[in-house]
Parts: sequence; C-alpha cells; structure tokens
Amino acid sequence: MTVRYPWALVCLSIGAPAADVAGPAACQPCHPTQYVTQTRSHHALALRRIIDTPVPELLAAQPLRERSGVDFRYELTRQGLNVTTTLGPETATGLLIWAFGSGAQASTPVGRIGNTWFEHRVSYYAEVKAGRLTMGHPAAASTTASAALGLAQQPEVVTQCFQCHATGVQPGPNLRDMVPGVTCERCHGEAKAHLRSANAIKPAPRTQAAITALCASCHRLPGSLPDATPEITDPLSIRYAPVGLLASACYRGSSALTCTNCHNPHGNATRNPAFYEAKCRSCHSTGTKPCKAGNTGGCLDCHMQQRSPAPYLRFTDHRIRVYRSE
Ligand code: HEC
Ligand code: HEC
Ligand code: HEC
Ligand code: HEC
Ligand code: HEC
Ligand code: HEC
Ligand code: HEC
Repeated sequence: MTVRYPWALVCLSIGAPAADVAGPAACQPCHPTQYVTQTRSHHALALRRIIDTPVPELLAAQPLRERSGVDFRYELTRQGLNVTTTLGPETATGLLIWAFGSGAQASTPVGRIGNTWFEHRVSYYAEVKAGRLTMGHPAAASTTASAALGLAQQPEVVTQCFQCHATGVQPGPNLRDMVPGVTCERCHGEAKAHLRSANAIKPAPRTQAAITALCASCHRLPGSLPDATPEITDPLSIRYAPVGLLASACYRGSSALTCTNCHNPHGNATRNPAFYEAKCRSCHSTGTKPCKAGNTGGCLDCHMQQRSPAPYLRFTDHRIRVYRSE
C-alpha cells in the first residue's frame, strides 16, 4: 500500500530564528499561564550549560572504565566539565560545555577539543541513572584515548543541534543571541517588536498543516519516499512522532488531528492514559468507528504502544493501529 503525505507541509517549516529575541521572562507579565508551564517543560530544558545541570555530578559519581582499559575522569571548572581519558601512557582531554536533552530520558554532553566541536562518547541516561554509550557512537572498544572522548562534529551539524534545542541560534554556530532551550520565540518568532505593540506578532498556528509543520520542524517529517510502515523500515523512526502519526489511518482520515489534540505545546506530555483515551473516544465513540473488538478503554495498550528502539530510550509509537502479528 502506498501512503500519500501532505507534501505541502515540507515547504512550510519555519525559518531560522532571528536575532531579535526578547527571552521568555519578557512574556511572563502578560502570558503567565504559558510562561509557568513552558519554562518548566522539557522543551525549555532541552539545552543547558552543563555546569547548571546534575550531569557532572552524575557522571563523576560512577566514572566509567571501558573494557579496552580506557578510564574517564571528570573535573568541574568555571568554563565547563573537563574530561580526561587515559589509555596506558596516552591521555586526551576535552571541555564539555553544553548538556543536550533535558535528562528526562537522556543528556548528551557537547563541547570542544581545541577548536573542534565534539559530542561526548558518554551520555547520561535516566533509566539507569548513569553514564552509558551515546546513541549512534561506535560500540566497539576505543583504541585510543582521544577516540574515547567522542566524535568530532562539523560546525554545520552542531549548528543544527543548537537550532533544534535552543532559541535564537545563528549559523556558525553563533550563540551570541541564544536563549538555551526551546522557548517562546523558537515557535512564535522573534517578539521584541510585539513588546511595544500587541499586534506585532504572527498569530499562533491553528491549522492542522501549520501545527504539524511547526512540531515536525524538529520532531522530523517522513523521508522523501512515502512509507506505510516506517517503524518496520527503520525501528529508530519511532523517535519521530510525526513520521508515525502521518502514516496512521487516524491522521489520513481526519483533517482535525494534529499534535496539539493530545499535547499542550507549552507543557510536557501527560503520563495519564485516561487523558489520551478520552481523545480517542472523541472520534471513536459508539456509532462513529468504534473499537471493532468492542473495547471502551485501555486504547493505548492495544493501539499505541511504547517501544525501546535503542538502549535506555523509550518512545511511543504514533502510528496508531491494530497490531497484527508483526
Ligand atoms: C504587555 C503585554 C504583553 C507582553 C509582554 C507579551 N505579550 Fe503576547 N500578546 C499580548 C496581547 C495583548 C496579545 C493579543 C491577545 C489577543 O489577541 O487575544 C498577545 C498575543 C500574543 C500571541 C498571539 C496569540 C494568538 O492567539 O494568536 C503570541 C504568540 C504572543 N503574544 C507571544 C508573546 C511572547 C512570545 C512574548 C514574550 C516575548 C509576549 N507575547 C509578550 C500582550 C503581551
Ligand atoms: C525547536 C525544536 C522543537 C520544536 C519546534 C518542537 N519540539 Fe518538541 N521537543 C524538542 C526537543 C529537543 C525535545 C526533547 C526535550 C528533552 O530533552 O526532554 C522535545 C520534546 C517534546 C515532547 C516530550 C516532552 C516530555 O514530556 O518529556 C513533546 C510531547 C513534544 N516535544 C511535543 C511537541 C509539539 C506538540 C510541538 C509543536 C507544537 C513541538 N514539540 C515542537 C524540540 C522541539
Ligand atoms: C532536527 C532537530 C534536531 C536536531 C538536529 C538534533 N536534535 Fe536532539 N532532539 C530533537 C527532538 C525533537 C528530541 C526529542 C524527541 C527525540 O528523542 O527524538 C531530541 C532529543 C534529544 C536528546 C534526548 C534523548 C532522546 O533521544 O530523547 C538528546 C540527548 C539530544 N536530542 C541530543 C542532540 C545532539 C547532541 C544533537 C546534535 C548532534 C541533536 N540532538 C540534534 C531534535 C533534534
Ligand atoms: C513548541 C512550540 C511552542 C513554544 C515553545 C511556545 N508556544 Fe505558544 N503556542 C504554540 C502553539 C502550537 C499554539 C497554538 C495552540 C493551540 O492551538 O492549541 C500556541 C499558542 C500560544 C498563545 C495563544 C493562546 C493559546 O494558548 O492558545 C500564546 C499567548 C502563546 N502561545 C504564548 C507563548 C509564550 C509566552 C511562550 C513561552 C513562555 C510560548 N507560547 C511557547 C507553540 C509554542
Ligand atoms: C481526530 C479524530 C481521531 C482521533 C483523536 C483518533 N482517531 Fe483513530 N481514526 C480516526 C479516523 C478518521 C480513522 C480512519 C477510519 C477509516 O478509515 O475508516 C481512524 C482509524 C483508527 C484505527 C484503525 C487503524 C487502521 O489502520 O485501520 C484505530 C485502531 C484507531 N483509529 C484508534 C485510535 C486510538 C487508539 C486513538 C487514541 C490514541 C485514536 N484512534 C484517535 C480518527 C481519529
Ligand atoms: C492521539 C494522541 C496523540 C497525538 C495526536 C500525538 N501524540 Fe505524542 N504522545 C501521545 C502519547 C499517548 C504519548 C505517551 C505519553 C506517556 O509517556 O505516557 C506521547 C508521547 C510523545 C512524546 C514523548 C516521547 C515518546 O515518544 O513517548 C513526544 C516527543 C510526542 N508525543 C510528540 C508528538 C508530536 C510531535 C505529535 C504530532 C506529530 C504528537 N506527539 C501527536 C499521544 C499523542
Ligand atoms: C484489548 C485490546 C484492545 C483495546 C483495549 C482496544 N482495542 Fe480497538 N481493536 C482491538 C482489535 C484486536 C481490533 C481489530 C479487530 C478486528 O479487526 O476484528 C481493534 C479495532 C479497533 C478499531 C478499528 C475499527 C475498524 O472498523 O476497523 C478502532 C477505531 C479501535 N479499535 C479503537 C479503539 C479505541 C478508541 C479504544 C479505546 C476506547 C480501543 N480500540 C481499545 C483491540 C483493542
């Protein structure tokens, strides 16, 4: 079966954030509801200075030793967290400056070795409350002390990391006007002018196409080849909620369904299944395509399950469906 995606979405993704960023504190007086939940959300914490997070303490508490014999040592400085790796007589050091990911699931340290950006080989994972191999890094033992520090990243790649995890990032990456974390103006556009004149801001997105495009600009869209079963083609694609949702019969059959039916854009995902089941029933009540198996609750267990496509990480399969034997 082929699935046709609304390709117009691809062209709608929002542009790079502009430099005229006011910062979330400026929004508090007039939008207190959004401010209170948003500034505590995992979006707002998606990027922090590593020294402002518990990551240094958590990594130093149980320093790793690779089977190859590589030792990791961490030392807090005012600039960040110095990491030193040792293999026999060889040592290498780098400076970890940023923690990507709120730590709700994981946090990956990113920093510099000299003038080069690098992503640390060890990330913090909430599930084990300790450091383990960063997702996507080679699982084989490190053969040199410097390889154990992690992977060097091109400036263009690091710019993308910052643009998805922060607000007001310019290419370079130029972090001069950055507000760390996904905050108000990352989704609503620069708002300094709005502070002087209430209507000098673009209206919040309200349509299915506009909201899906905004969320998918970071949570990812399907690739260029339509795929009816993306989670089989690439099990890791379950990380990308829009990829699953867009392939679901619910999304294809309803122009009313988008991310904000089930998620407050200013908060975290609620963990209460009853909240989501009420959403399911709002479209699947008796009479309008009810559950064929006759169930009136427990929808998520049978139609929207959680999976772990990579160690220590869990995601929800957004391709809502009947799980036939697969
Ligand atoms: C001095 C008060 C004030 C401040 C400060 C303020 N706003 Fe507003 N904002 C308003 C008013 C008034 C409106 C128009 C409300 C309406 O149309 O109902 C508005 C509308 C908006 C809208 C459009 C909502 C919609 O329904 O389309 C967004 C988005 C928004 N503001 C974001 C922000 C952000 C982000 C900040 C901080 C950078 C901010 N505002 C700071 C008063 C303020
Ligand atoms: C600028 C990039 C960006 C945009 C735009 C964005 N997100 Fe996110 N989102 C993230 C990142 C990064 C995280 C991971 C936060 C963390 O580290 O825990 C995240 C996490 C989430 C979570 C999980 C929160 C939790 O409970 O732990 C939900 C739900 C979510 N986003 C929904 C949305 C929705 C809905 C939209 C559109 C209205 C949206 N996101 C737009 C980057 C973005
Ligand atoms: C296209 C936007 C985008 C880019 C580029 C990006 N991220 Fe993310 N990142 C997200 C979103 C969305 C989430 C939350 C959902 C998820 O896990 O994919 C996230 C989650 C994370 C998490 C939490 C663990 C997890 O998987 O939920 C870490 C750690 C992280 N990103 C690190 C990085 C690093 C380091 C880079 C650069 C090498 C990077 N990200 C590049 C959008 C992005
Ligand atoms: C992840 C993207 C995202 C972030 C970050 C974000 N918003 Fe929004 N905001 C939205 C979306 C999407 C809507 C439309 C909500 C809807 O239709 O359900 C919205 C709606 C609004 C509205 C209109 C009233 C409402 O709730 O519908 C205001 C005002 C607003 N946001 C202000 C803010 C402020 C202030 C911040 C920062 C404290 C912020 N937003 C952060 C995506 C975001
Ligand atoms: C905005 C409305 C809407 C919401 C909310 C919604 N659905 Fe659907 N769903 C649909 C439509 C429309 C179809 C397609 C029906 C058809 O093609 O006959 C569908 C199809 C389905 C199917 C059949 C899947 C298939 O592959 O044939 C299942 C199962 C399902 N929904 C379960 C759920 C569950 C569980 C939830 C809550 C997590 C949910 N839906 C939320 C509108 C919705
Ligand atoms: C029909 C309801 C529904 C819709 C629509 C929906 N989600 Fe979710 N989402 C959920 C449920 C249920 C969870 C799991 C909550 C929990 O952990 O208990 C979830 C969790 C998430 C998470 C946290 C990580 C994970 O996979 O568990 C992210 C990120 C997310 N959703 C993003 C999105 C985005 C982006 C969209 C729009 C493309 C979207 N969701 C649309 C129901 C929905
Ligand atoms: C115990 C597992 C279970 C639970 C709980 C459950 N379902 Fe189902 N559902 C199924 C199975 C199995 C089918 C396929 C039955 C068949 O094809 O004969 C199905 C089919 C469906 C369909 C497809 C209907 C069609 O005409 O093709 C929809 C829609 C649906 N369920 C919605 C829901 C909703 C909404 C909930 C929660 C209120 C729910 N289900 C709870 C197992 C379940």
